[in-house]
Amino acid sequence: MPRRLFVTTALPYANGPFHIGHIMEYIQADVWVRFQRMQGHEVHFMGADDAHGAPIMLAAEKAGKSPEAFIAEVSRGRAQYLDGFHISFDNWHSTHSPENSELSRGIYAGLKAAGLVYPRRIEQLYDPVKGMFLADRYIKGECPNCGAQDQYGDACENCSTVYAAAELKNPYSTLSGAKPELRSAEHLFFRLSDPRCVAFLQEWIDAPGRLQPQVANKAREWLQAEGERALADWDISRDAPYFGIEIPDAPGKYFYVWLDAPIGYFASFKNYCAKKGMDYQAFMTDPETEMIHFIGKDIIYFHTLFWPAMLKFSGNKLPDSVYVHGFITVSGEKMSKSRGTGISPLRYLEVGMNPEWLRYYIAAKLNANVEDVDFNPDDFLARVNADLVGKYVNIARRAAHVITKQFGGELKYEGDTGALVHGARASALSCSEFYEAREFGKVIRDIMSAADRINQAFDARQPWLLAPDTTRRRELQDICSRALHGFKLLTVLLAPVLPALASRVARELFGMDRDFVWTDAEVLPARVLPYRHLMTRIDEKQLDRLFDIAPEAPQVALPASRTPAAAQAAAAPEAAGATGTTIGIEEFAKIDLRVARIARAEPVEGADKLLRLTLDLGAESRPVFAGIKSAYQPADLEGRLTVVVANLAPRKMKFGLSQGMILAASGENSPGIYLLSPDAGAQPGMRVK
Ligand code: MSP
Ligand code: ZN
Repeated sequence: MPRRLFVTTALPYANGPFHIGHIMEYIQADVWVRFQRMQGHEVHFMGADDAHGAPIMLAAEKAGKSPEAFIAEVSRGRAQYLDGFHISFDNWHSTHSPENSELSRGIYAGLKAAGLVYPRRIEQLYDPVKGMFLADRYIKGECPNCGAQDQYGDACENCSTVYAAAELKNPYSTLSGAKPELRSAEHLFFRLSDPRCVAFLQEWIDAPGRLQPQVANKAREWLQAEGERALADWDISRDAPYFGIEIPDAPGKYFYVWLDAPIGYFASFKNYCAKKGMDYQAFMTDPETEMIHFIGKDIIYFHTLFWPAMLKFSGNKLPDSVYVHGFITVSGEKMSKSRGTGISPLRYLEVGMNPEWLRYYIAAKLNANVEDVDFNPDDFLARVNADLVGKYVNIARRAAHVITKQFGGELKYEGDTGALVHGARASALSCSEFYEAREFGKVIRDIMSAADRINQAFDARQPWLLAPDTTRRRELQDICSRALHGFKLLTVLLAPVLPALASRVARELFGMDRDFVWTDAEVLPARVLPYRHLMTRIDEKQLDRLFDIAPEAPQVALPASRTPAAAQAAAAPEAAGATGTTIGIEEFAKIDLRVARIARAEPVEGADKLLRLTLDLGAESRPVFAGIKSAYQPADLEGRLTVVVANLAPRKMKFGLSQGMILAASGENSPGIYLLSPDAGAQPGMRVK
């Protein structure tokens, strides 16, 4: 029985282009969706921009555009990413759409009719210059507990105290700098704490297969919390000016962006049904339809409490599963725009890197748990070059060549082929279970060990020795046929991950006039066409270009924050000052400072500010790039002791990997750079604390 699947990914805010975290989420969902399609299931894979809310309104204002024009522009930029990484959404829509307004108002009416919406006056800070109420993130002031300056309106980054924005001392609006006033206004609330909601959610959360165990635990914890952290009702309205959907019976009030955002899943599908002539109502009321959301770990609350409760009490279809993934980090670092870490997906495509390398790598690292996934450049290079190209693609290259040259493209198997078919069926079955369960890492692991076995079997029979022997042609043909059967099988199994490659293999190598479906796995191929090059290895230079940073180095050796540090200093003066916020001793203790001896210092070709240092840390030696060329002759440095940040995440630079950062002093307005050195007697490797 084919399943009917309605699959979504979280709707990205339309305040800027996609980052690598979005792409990772889309790759995960796309692999799963393509797998389901290959099984013959009916899948509708929906995406949309989340276009509403104050941040987007303000971003548009800053860009000198209307919010409509601003989100339209962002939306036009989506296709190059989605096409570029082969993400196969069936539709891409927007929460700023007639469908979404209508659906949101309908759901709101349903909740109201169920007695779950009520008004309450609340006090909020208001910016008299901007003429708007301020969300916590737009208010800063002194921490009421420790007095730290420039703390946000919800919690202190210095002492971790959580407070209300109105408790900040000397508060100011980050939008206008004005002193906010406390004003009261009526808001609408959704009564999440209603016993009906709580009872329903208990049951919904506990349904087997609905949530990953750790997600269900989290949701249960929120639901059952008592006292201060008890489940709170949800403020679903915002006062004008706001970019959103106006609430029908409350003029001047808008739905809070998170109310209409998930409804955008439906809006996108409704929009799609209209285009395709499908019956939206029938599909959404069919109990057989499965609704599945892929989301990241930061938005669990919305998707496991608010969203199902909203749907339930407005009489709508409920999500069957919410699949949560962790975050992607790059070389162990969280991505951050301001620090310039992370990978730009567009840059990835621009430097000519193959999107399927990334799909493969991410798939290889994904499992069904809510674990972060690290993109490590060296690991990426190794897995793609050694496994994907070296093991898998290699099979076809070697065997197809012989078959076309010596056998006119014809495959022939010696003896009984029953075992081959049987083996293929078993691999396909076990892989399909892993795909279904989102255990993509296990899929890749099994495929690569199968590739190993195929290569070993091929090598063991030494076909290169047989080739000249005319009496053993049948044997040679058999060896190569078996290898190509194996290659075809693995290609079918990899097709959800490598759709473009698999499509080429189906058409160009096996001469099919369509793409693979799952059952092709067990069909032994009978012919091949002449082999055409399938996939290149990653060239390390491409990685260098991917991580390329502006060629101008700043004052000191700042591998982890070179250009971006300067940019950040300009954008956020409070972060760059000599005084500013304080940190606790635990935070300082995280920095592993060590005495290092500069064993070698050499200029770097093409870099006018950098020196390449080889540091001796006692037990190990490491390369570090330092922007100190203007102040030191390499020869004067060799043998000197200095201090290095030893646990800084390695940074791939244009000129190679930098594994640490040496410390130097420099003044804001004076040019010199002054390397730190320990007193005599210190030894390389000693800890500085
Ligand atoms: N607009 C909301 C979602 C509304 S859903 C009805 C939102 N947008 S977002 O652009 O901030 O995030 C979109 C998705 O990207 C979320 O699932 C989020 O978890 C995911 N990611 C954001 N950063 C990420 C990583 N670093 N790694 C992986 N996914 C990440 O939240
Ligand atoms: Zn504080």
